[in-house]
Amino acid sequence: MKKKYLITSALPYINGIKHLGNLVGSILPADIYARFLKQSGHDVLFICGTDEHGTPAEIAAHEANISIEDYCLKMHDLQKSIYKKFDINFDYFGRSSDLSNHDLTQKIYKKLKENNCIIQTNINQYYSHFDKRFLPDRYIEGQCPFCGFDKARGDQCDGCSHLLSPEDLISPYSSISGSTDIELKSTKHLFIDLPKIQDQLKTWVDSRTEWSDLVTGIAHKWLKEGLQSRCITRDLTWGVSVPEDGYEGKVFYVWFDAPNAYISITKDWAKQHGDHTEWEKWWLNSQESVHYTQFMAKDNVPFHAIFWPSILLSADMGFKLVDNIKSFHWLTYEKGKFSTSRKRGVFTDQALELYSADYWRYYLISNCPETSDSDFSFTHFASVVNKDLADILGNFLNRTLSLIAKYYDGQIPCTLDSHLIDRTLLSQASEIVGEIHKNLSALKFRPATQMLRSLWVLGNTYITTHEPWTVLKHDKDAAGVVLTHCIHMLKVFAAVSHPFIPKTSSHILDLLNDPDFDKKDELSCDNCLDFTYFKAGHLIKAPQRLFEKIDDETVKNLADRFSGTTNANHE
Ligand code: MF3
Ligand code: ZN
Repeated sequence: MKKKYLITSALPYINGIKHLGNLVGSILPADIYARFLKQSGHDVLFICGTDEHGTPAEIAAHEANISIEDYCLKMHDLQKSIYKKFDINFDYFGRSSDLSNHDLTQKIYKKLKENNCIIQTNINQYYSHFDKRFLPDRYIEGQCPFCGFDKARGDQCDGCSHLLSPEDLISPYSSISGSTDIELKSTKHLFIDLPKIQDQLKTWVDSRTEWSDLVTGIAHKWLKEGLQSRCITRDLTWGVSVPEDGYEGKVFYVWFDAPNAYISITKDWAKQHGDHTEWEKWWLNSQESVHYTQFMAKDNVPFHAIFWPSILLSADMGFKLVDNIKSFHWLTYEKGKFSTSRKRGVFTDQALELYSADYWRYYLISNCPETSDSDFSFTHFASVVNKDLADILGNFLNRTLSLIAKYYDGQIPCTLDSHLIDRTLLSQASEIVGEIHKNLSALKFRPATQMLRSLWVLGNTYITTHEPWTVLKHDKDAAGVVLTHCIHMLKVFAAVSHPFIPKTSSHILDLLNDPDFDKKDELSCDNCLDFTYFKAGHLIKAPQRLFEKIDDETVKNLADRFSGTTNANHE
């Protein structure tokens, strides 16, 4: 039955081009899921955009020596174009800094105030004499009081993921200058009263049936410790301004405005779509039922499982809360951390200069950090590309199409009437396709990709055991039946592979001269198992290489190049 699915991927920060770890931890799996659901005929909306406020943007613009508005626009366009090249099929890739979000965030704030969920307090905040400014949380570092990690930031510890306040840090210093000449000064700020919503939030969390153990575990840890009121304003100029007197020079905390942008970006999408009210169908509880899934790396979970739901529950404006949160562990790079500052690892723009999107999409999702951390290495990348994509998938296509081109004038040899159909092959294929669908529906991306690979292996084994190249020498009709089955398998491959490797899927359909080529995004997998689909004499194209193999020397060169010493200019 046709259903409505809302999908959001954590909004990538604006400051700089993201690395492969960021891509695999939210946007890529979200895209695969969205494509899969669209293909199955559901009504799907896939929303993302850049997270543009906060100190990192301010600092990056300052370093680039341009205005923050120009910096954000430039980086937004750049990130957007990179995701497009990865064939990420967002329905809308918006911006948290758009007016719609300023408007919505202020409305939410006013509603929170009306509902008595806002507290104003004077707090002591670090002022850096050396940097001549108040230091927002992220720009103070020190030792984590929970795990002892010595480079914990004032908002969160990278060692144990604990959310922190700057005063929690032991031996704090300014991370802008490294100066320890910092002093706590009193200044007024707004807080959201989270203790007030704790019970209601807990009831909601407990009613979430789909969450993984990882997500539930993080949420429960938080609830058990007891929610604390959290400051929602910062001493910055770049952000959503606070609609209160005496708050000039202050804006809302970036985590107070960014998640709201999932909604405001949907409003922007609706506007562009021609119907201003269309967003309500996706976000208002009073409207039709929508299933909502969020994708993110695990450090984002507290904000999506606790903080944002608390805001929405407290504001009580009828917005839809999340049904399922799909969260990922970390992708490491050659057994260490991807490091933006040390230029270690492969960034998304560089990746595309080396190999086209599907090499990365397939490799990354088959190796995604789904149940634990996983590691990227060029050696592993090359072995997966060479085996799965070139040897199994590529070779199957190549053998099928070249035999047909050479011995059957490029025409499909026969029509597979029911007496000719290989029912064993058909039922094995159906079973695997069913498994892929089951895993994708359950957001299990690694098992889904493994099954996709077994589908390709099924085709390969079929052609290898039936040896049409030998059979055709004495029985051209019999070999023709085998090759026609292979063509049908290629059609199944194209349909089922589409969410994972959309370009390759289109490429295969193009080579098959497939009448479905124009509606490839909606190609449902069920009708591909219809073996009356192609008719004898249907002209197909000569084979083309789908994937290039990667040799050992290239692997070595790439590993050297991206090891973190002389990498190009990334944030
Ligand atoms: N920018 C954050 C990150 O990259 C994610 C923000 S998600 C949002 O970790 F919901 F707040 F937008
Ligand atoms: Zn810690």
